[in-house]
Amino acid sequence: MFENLDTVREDMMNRLIRAGNDRKVPMHAPTVVTADVDARVMVLREFDTSAFTLRFHTDTRAPKVAVIDADPRMAVLFYDKAAKVQIRARGQGKVLRDAPVTQAAWDASNNFARRCYLGDGPGTASDTPTSGLPPQFEGVEPTDEEVIAGRPNFSVLLITLEELDWFYLAHTGHIRAQFTREGDDWSGRWVSP
Ligand SMILES: Cc1cc2nc3c(=O)[nH]c(=O)nc-3n(C[C@H](O)[C@H](O)[C@H](O)COP(=O)(O)O)c2cc1C
Repeated sequence: MFENLDTVREDMMNRLIRAGNDRKVPMHAPTVVTADVDARVMVLREFDTSAFTLRFHTDTRAPKVAVIDADPRMAVLFYDKAAKVQIRARGQGKVLRDAPVTQAAWDASNNFARRCYLGDGPGTASDTPTSGLPPQFEGVEPTDEEVIAGRPNFSVLLITLEELDWFYLAHTGHIRAQFTREGDDWSGRWVSP
């Protein structure tokens, strides 16, 4: 099935494209790792096959944003149990607070999703269990006017991929391949699992 590196690369690219488009696939919610050796689940919004970027959305006030600003090295870990495929990606992260892509992502969102950016910033301490949202927006969709206050808290995180590691679990023996980005192309090699 995966007899040559081109087939593997194609499989990987197709999985990343689908991960950005299809909320039902496990790879839609990968683990995103920052240079401070912290990790968290995030929703992949898009894989851009020409720029080789992964797009995520984040609250600008989240602790990871300052970490990425200071040290852009990042990793993203994807695993699809049913497909028996793991993809490890490494690259450079950039938080875009006011770029056209950020405004476009905000515009493409809905007020229920935008509501998340109206509350306290991620990691804000509380004496009681809290959503961080102002009480009037608990379970309530804000209006177009009300939601404007959330826009400065919304950012896009783009991770430009540099290295990919694909691992396929098989009865007959697992197989694994690594790819390094060279301009518009990827150079691949087989490695022992
Ligand atoms: C299924 C799932 C999806 C999530 N999606 C996102 C997301 O798209 N963006 C995001 O910033 N945080 C997302 N989170 C929350 C993060 O895991 C994390 O708690 C938050 O971003 C704060 O991270 P930080 O303290 O490292 O900045 C998600 C959590 C879960 C469980």
